[in-house]
Amino acid sequence: MSDAYSGRGNKDRSLGPETAPSSADPVKKGGHARPAPDGPFLIGDAMTGGYGKGADILHGCTIAVDPGEIAVIVGPNGAGKSTAMKAVFGMLNLREGAVRLDGEDITDLSPQDRVLKGMGFVPQTHNIFTSMTVEENLEMGAFIREDDIAETMAQVYDLFPILKEKRRQAAGELSGGQRQQVAVGRALMTKPKVLMLDEPTAGVSPIVMDELFDRIIEVARTGIPILMVEQNARQALEIADKGYVLVQGRNAHTGTGKELLADPDVRRSFLGG
Ligand SMILES: Nc1ncnc2c1ncn2[C@@H]1O[C@H](COP(=O)(O)OP(=O)(O)OP(=O)(O)O)[C@@H](O)[C@H]1O
Ligand SMILES: [Mg+2]
Repeated sequence: MSDAYSGRGNKDRSLGPETAPSSADPVKKGGHARPAPDGPFLIGDAMTGGYGKGADILHGCTIAVDPGEIAVIVGPNGAGKSTAMKAVFGMLNLREGAVRLDGEDITDLSPQDRVLKGMGFVPQTHNIFTSMTVEENLEMGAFIREDDIAETMAQVYDLFPILKEKRRQAAGELSGGQRQQVAVGRALMTKPKVLMLDEPTAGVSPIVMDELFDRIIEVARTGIPILMVEQNARQALEIADKGYVLVQGRNAHTGTGKELLADPDVRRSFLGG
């Protein structure tokens, strides 16, 4: 598998950020970013917390991704996969733990500020504006940018040619797989330094799933690290450089995609033998 994808890397940064991430980036509003020791490019480190004043959902959960990598989070329904993604994106107050991006502690930043720092996030549900056209969705994705977005839009259309064809159509009229392309394209419009996808292949056919995975690999090859939750555990681990199995808000198994696929425990409990 590593052979098939060994070309993945930082050869073409066209969809990614133009400049190297800098710790001197201004923090526009919200909390204060603090310098942190170097580690993975993006890490939710030992995160504990839940929704509002409710019970903790995450219990010391750690997920991370590095440039050139696809990291995949799998686990049963209700395991806290989406909650972990939301925590990394700043939609949850952590009681313990930290989130660091490119060595900087961003635990106290709002989601908006994390977007400014280079996070692209595609949530599990409600990830497109159904009454807007495909093109309007992409334009909305670029809301934080003040420069010319035409080139990025052309790159998104290169990646997902069907979206160019349907650019004047309401996104709500598209098929499930095409909607997911709109959602991923929208996130790419910010030129993110890291892309987080929560179940990008939910509800699509196996053929469309393969196609979406191919596009996601293509994005990773442009140098954008990808942290993604997937219900299709086996197929996702096959393309994963790194995998996390979450159970009840905890890290149950961590390893390379290959290691997890070969682990008898993981196979029996999560991959159907
Ligand atoms: N907004 C919310 N407020 C309160 N509790 C929530 C909220 N969202 C999720 N939960 C609870 O948090 C736990 C973890 O849910 P989460 O959505 O993170 O699981 P998941 O692993 O993403 O599941 P799935 O595979 O179904 O997407 C569940 O017990 C769920 O009921
Ligand atoms: Mg979920």
